[in-house]
Amino acid sequence: MYARLIGTGSYLPGNPVTNDDLAARGIDTNDEWIVTRTGIRSRHLAAPGTTSSELGLIAAQRALEMSGVSAADLDLIIVATSTPDFIFPSTACLIQANLGNKGAAAFDVQAVCAGFTYALGIAEKFIRSGSHKRALVIGAEVFSRILDWNDRGTCVLFGDGAGAIVLEASDKPGVLATAMHADGSQNGILNVPGQICGGQVTGDPFLRMDGPSVFKFAVRVLADIAEEVCQIAGIQTTDVDWLIPHQANIRIIEATGKKLGVDRNKVIVTVDRHGNTSAASVPLALDEAVRDGRIQRGQKVLVEGVGGGFTWGAALLEF
Ligand SMILES: CC(C)(COP(=O)(O)OP(=O)(O)OC[C@H]1O[C@@H](n2cnc3c(N)ncnc32)[C@H](O)[C@@H]1OP(=O)(O)O)[C@@H](O)C(=O)NCCC(=O)NCCS
Repeated sequence: MYARLIGTGSYLPGNPVTNDDLAARGIDTNDEWIVTRTGIRSRHLAAPGTTSSELGLIAAQRALEMSGVSAADLDLIIVATSTPDFIFPSTACLIQANLGNKGAAAFDVQAVCAGFTYALGIAEKFIRSGSHKRALVIGAEVFSRILDWNDRGTCVLFGDGAGAIVLEASDKPGVLATAMHADGSQNGILNVPGQICGGQVTGDPFLRMDGPSVFKFAVRVLADIAEEVCQIAGIQTTDVDWLIPHQANIRIIEATGKKLGVDRNKVIVTVDRHGNTSAASVPLALDEAVRDGRIQRGQKVLVEGVGGGFTWGAALLEF
């Protein structure tokens, strides 16, 4: 029994916000600095009041439409997000209600930018165990809400959006291998170290990052975990048809591809237009490449993420 991917969908809120637009809004930055360091040219930012569950709902509806599965037939809904609508109920339960599904197991996964790869790995294991048959896996984020817009070193890097996939039990190969890891000792290099306590925000409720440390860590673990899932599946990294790394920074993406010996034109890139959408980045890029026809039936696609925690995960998919 395999978990097979039968549909993808995604959603980006509003119009693109360019680097020049950010500078025009008073951020002390410029297009040249951002493009040279990160490859980011624009991102989408949700309107005030728009939530992760709203973005995730549209991505989910598009994935369900492509898969031909009705919401009522889902028995598992997992949402990867670090920017949930509420402390509880989970974003997954909110999306479930708006899809009109009753009875599916629904919960959120918190593994920041590796969240989608964690959620995919969990869903795959539920399906392979035989306990569940049709899973909706969503990455949805409004990172713009946790950015310090006075910190130019972080606020220019992120964007909002959502992506989703539908997985179904099948006797044909689908998800060939998954892996997930964490190293909590690195919790200090990328975090939002705040909380709500007694009705007040305590600590620091904004995203903080040691950029150079994150950069080095990300390249190392993205290369390691890509090799790990290929080894499980018995293939070489160079046999992969498409590599979809977490879209944080073009330099991290290119360094990872180079380390793995994957040709530049086999790497899907959206970071230039989306920025870093955290748990949404991989399913957004996957949906783009499925819909524009780059990803074809029978091809092998390696998706991987890395994020705060530190966490990292990957999955090798056969289409
Ligand atoms: C953040 C990052 C782009 C910074 O690049 P860098 O090469 O380390 O930065 P540099 O040393 O070249 O530049 C730092 C300088 O640029 C300035 N700077 C920072 N942000 C700026 C911005 N948006 N616009 C203009 N200047 C900026 C800093 O103030 C600093 O100036 P100073 O030296 O006068 O203090 C890089 O570390 C990175 O990409 N890290 C990984 C981040 C990431 O992907 N996080 C998410 C992972 S899930």
